[in-house]
Amino acid sequence: MPRRASPPRASGGRRTGRNDRVSEKGAAIPILGIDIGTGGSRALVVDDAGTILASSTAPHEPFASLGPAWAEQDPADWWQAAVKATREALAASGLPASAIGAVGLSGQMHGAVLLDAQGNVLRPSIIWCDQRTAEECRWLEQEVGRDRLLELTANPALTNFTLTKLLWVRKHEPDVWSRVRHVLLPKDYVRYRLSGAHAIDVADASGTLMLDVAKRQWSDEMLAAAGIRREMLPEVFESPAVCARVSAEAAEATGLPVGTPIVAGAGDQAAGAVGMGITTPGTVSVTIGTSGVVFAATERPALDRKGRIHTFCHAIPDRWHVMGVTQAAGLSLRWFRDQWGAGSDDAAYEQLTREAAAVPPGADGVLWAPYLMGERTPHTDPDVRGALLGLAASHTRGHLVRAVLEGVAFSLRDSFGIFDELALPIGRVRVGGGGARSALWRSIQAAVYGRAVETVVAEEGAAYGAALLAGVGAGIWPSVDAACDAVVRTKEVTEPDPAAVKVLEERYRQFQRVYPALRDVYRGASSQS
Ligand code: XUL
Repeated sequence: MPRRASPPRASGGRRTGRNDRVSEKGAAIPILGIDIGTGGSRALVVDDAGTILASSTAPHEPFASLGPAWAEQDPADWWQAAVKATREALAASGLPASAIGAVGLSGQMHGAVLLDAQGNVLRPSIIWCDQRTAEECRWLEQEVGRDRLLELTANPALTNFTLTKLLWVRKHEPDVWSRVRHVLLPKDYVRYRLSGAHAIDVADASGTLMLDVAKRQWSDEMLAAAGIRREMLPEVFESPAVCARVSAEAAEATGLPVGTPIVAGAGDQAAGAVGMGITTPGTVSVTIGTSGVVFAATERPALDRKGRIHTFCHAIPDRWHVMGVTQAAGLSLRWFRDQWGAGSDDAAYEQLTREAAAVPPGADGVLWAPYLMGERTPHTDPDVRGALLGLAASHTRGHLVRAVLEGVAFSLRDSFGIFDELALPIGRVRVGGGGARSALWRSIQAAVYGRAVETVVAEEGAAYGAALLAGVGAGIWPSVDAACDAVVRTKEVTEPDPAAVKVLEERYRQFQRVYPALRDVYRGASSQS
């Protein structure tokens, strides 16, 4: 059995220099960040100067699609992947597991994990990108009213949000629903397996449509209107707060010491923003993972009356954020690679990117509308579907790949337009996720946004943000701002190429005309399962 670590304290260590905090035994306090993504779970060991000591990723089974634009994953798979990644990262760090001072969790948002009274998972989790709940959204709009929904939760009813998934199960699987005692989000299920606690952070809870986002607590009025019992929901905490401790059973599985503190953490977007230093208004991040997100911090909840962007609590107490979401960002390229590429590994991505780089900006007229899983920002339309347009016999695979990369960037640019409309300041733009690792995708993004884009040194996104939140909970840094100021550094700046900006500006105008045309063709598709 691993031995119990002394719990980290907010004071009491010895300081030897900048961020050079050491425990009373003379050892630095490393922290662990775990991100439960869609493609895999990642664990990161970080020291108290913010340096990444080791990391490991364990893949998940691809999500099952039982209907068009449906998506389910098995929570047991997340737990197994989290355990594997944690064990591997700890081993690679060369540190004894007993050295870990605290654990931070982050993960894909919105998914519903349904547990019975004994804590057993009742059905696969309907995850964030699943689009089956258009009917439940309409029901909520009628029952609560569009304006009241915005007042209560700061957001409209969207198919992605957890509440709509609960309503779907209640209606379509009443036997399952009758046995549900606890509802958790993906990373919170992993926390449950780590500690036995039912807990959630304010940022992830914002994406359930059950949180009063302005007050940062469950909305009793919303729960009553939807007929959801509050005792089913986990307790809500601010992101850096310690809310659980590693249990004996989980210590056995992971190697972590019994009693290691676990902070609330955050949904992957807020945690990723912390990892990229997006803490105050002005700096905006664009993260291309499976989804694509344009994210800005705000001092107060900033409401979009048209409901095109999300207004959520930030992972920083007393701060909020807005974000626009492209449903299939990295997913567009992964889908293309898997279906039409030259394999399903990283080498296939490199091959496809080389082919795309040989094609001029604008892809000689080919356009990609990335609506493989419907779309959120700005269209909030679960029924629309993707399209490749403008094909000619002269086009090569490289043209199609370039169009995919450009189309995702066009879709993300839609969010910049809404931020402008709402007078949200856009200063520096930081890019992250897989999309920022490709030099070609970075230069396409710079040209499409018409702005320099920068990457950060620790490019581990949500897992890194989760580790920083754990560091705040462990007392290494006094606040999330202080943690980011101390450790987040710019790595590389990509300036927009003026010639590409000109071509892509014109192509973006064309892209904006694609959705209205597709909408009419695909209206009603999500209900055809
Ligand atoms: C954000 C969202 C996705 C998921 C998956 O609203 O749905 O970013 O969190 O990463």
